[in-house]
Amino acid sequence: MCGIIGYVGPRQAQDVIIGGLRRMEYRGYDSAGIAVVADAGLALAKKAGKLANLVAELAESPLPPSTQGIGHTRWATHGGPTDGNAHPHASQTGRVAVVHNGIIENFASLRADLEAEGVTFASETDTEVAAQLLGREVERAGSLVDAMRAVCNRLEGAFTLVAVDALSPGRIVAARRNSPLVVGVGVGEMFVASDVAAFIEYTREAVELGQDQVVEVTPDGYEVTSFTGEAAPSHPYHIDWDLSAAEKGGYDWFMRKEIFEQPRAVSDTLLGRLDGEGRLVLDEIRIDDAELRRVDKIVIVACGTAFYAGMVAKYAIEHWTRVPCEVEIASEFRYRDPIITPTTLVVTISQSGETADTLMAIRHAREQHAKVIAICNTNGATIPRESDAVIYTHAGPEIGVASTKGFTTQIVACYLLGLYLAQVKETKYGDEIRDLLSELEQLPAKMQHVLDGLDQMAGLARDFIGCKSLLFLGRHVGYPVALEGALKLKELSYLHAEGFPAGELKHGPIALVEDGLPVFVVVPPQGRDQLHDKVVSNIQEVRARGALTVVLAEEGDDEARPYADIFVELPKVPTLFQPLVAVIPLQFFACELATLLGHDVDQPRNLAKSVTVE
Ligand code: AGP
Repeated sequence: MCGIIGYVGPRQAQDVIIGGLRRMEYRGYDSAGIAVVADAGLALAKKAGKLANLVAELAESPLPPSTQGIGHTRWATHGGPTDGNAHPHASQTGRVAVVHNGIIENFASLRADLEAEGVTFASETDTEVAAQLLGREVERAGSLVDAMRAVCNRLEGAFTLVAVDALSPGRIVAARRNSPLVVGVGVGEMFVASDVAAFIEYTREAVELGQDQVVEVTPDGYEVTSFTGEAAPSHPYHIDWDLSAAEKGGYDWFMRKEIFEQPRAVSDTLLGRLDGEGRLVLDEIRIDDAELRRVDKIVIVACGTAFYAGMVAKYAIEHWTRVPCEVEIASEFRYRDPIITPTTLVVTISQSGETADTLMAIRHAREQHAKVIAICNTNGATIPRESDAVIYTHAGPEIGVASTKGFTTQIVACYLLGLYLAQVKETKYGDEIRDLLSELEQLPAKMQHVLDGLDQMAGLARDFIGCKSLLFLGRHVGYPVALEGALKLKELSYLHAEGFPAGELKHGPIALVEDGLPVFVVVPPQGRDQLHDKVVSNIQEVRARGALTVVLAEEGDDEARPYADIFVELPKVPTLFQPLVAVIPLQFFACELATLLGHDVDQPRNLAKSVTVE
């Protein structure tokens, strides 16, 4: 989750780099730094803490003018967040500077070898090993790009490296393995970055780099090669959102803006999914129908909120396709020696597309010859690139660390996948699929209806500001919504919050219930089965023991309303689609309570937007 930017062109590099680092602050970091290639050679500045510390340092001791440089915001892995461990790191010769995202897993042995040869290290980081190796290779190889390739072939683990050479001004060399890197193509200027937000104010033309690739950029162009030096294909694309989309648009937090963007994000994700004959088309699916027809098990792997989206998806996919569907925490998946065969379909869900736990899980699945479909919100990210197929959600940039539109669009993408599989397996036919799709297409308006009535949740946040613990209950697809509501509250307010299946109360959790304890309950629509009535009974059980019940139920639910201290009305939607409306009041409540508590809602403590380390 470090932020990286490199620039070469006519502008003052320091201005471009600091501005780019500012646009990546949301990624979570604990130090920042910059290096430029000036007439007198490399000039660096780096500080622990927030970017403001670096800016203050530069105000006191400005760097010399330069039109080429690299910058970095670091989230500490090897070595604490200190000035010395901040990036960029320079070689002992002072000729090369490098910034890095990821983890170099064999850094200890490489460091020992270098120290044995007399190299003195200035930091505890794995990154400095790359800097020292580059410093030695560039003397040997003569060019930074050749040195980069030689060094990359010695490194193990995940890395994006961006380097400059004091003796070759006007060029930047970058490399990637298992970590994001994107080139921004300007007119007479070029950018390399871990995130398009770093350069989007200058250009929306980008190039995604593939696995084990090196890129050399100069103001007039770029050249992509493999780690062994062969010319490699590059994939230019146009970034379809502009800077304003990455700004707050008048909201106090990115997260609040993103809560309100959900109807649009869902409708964009649904866009263009039916062909002229009304058949569902997912053009990113590059697995032929015959192969999908042979699928006899589906395993969804994800982390955090994405995992809860997978839990919702399980109900829909099994209901529509009658194929067994498991949902696994990605970091647990490969350690339990899962039963994966060539007829298993693995579905990964990841907003960032860079979550290391999820990436390692699909690597494991592919080693077992399973097909992998990625549900992802980030074009060109590592996870979709390493999958057999991808369904992109079109939520636009999700900047707030706490995922909101990522969650609801992930659920929608999973519904699309489930319907597509049902269509291929002929467990659902054209008219049924079209009916379900048209139900889905009505959801953005119903979500908007919920968004228009959130004052009640703002009042609730004020009422609950002194609470130390809150419970969330649900059944069926309401259970993952309860888990997600609890996670939002934990992430943002730092309070104890826990989600349970409502039916589990009597097996232990009900002991937690005491006078005045807020218990949120997601009530399924009234319908044929007993699901609804059982949840209403659960509300009575907790209320009888003093709980303060916040009941989220569909309008007109007169059976649930009498047991609600606070009744939160939801629009009527089919049971399977209820998470898309039920989660919104819980997202907003968590955002509001955290705001009242004075927390940084967009960058909660200890968290990062994308967890690119295992
Ligand atoms: C959710 O609010 C958290 N930010 C976190 O649980 C997140 O969902 C998880 O880390 C997965 O991230 P991904 O979707 O980018 O893979």
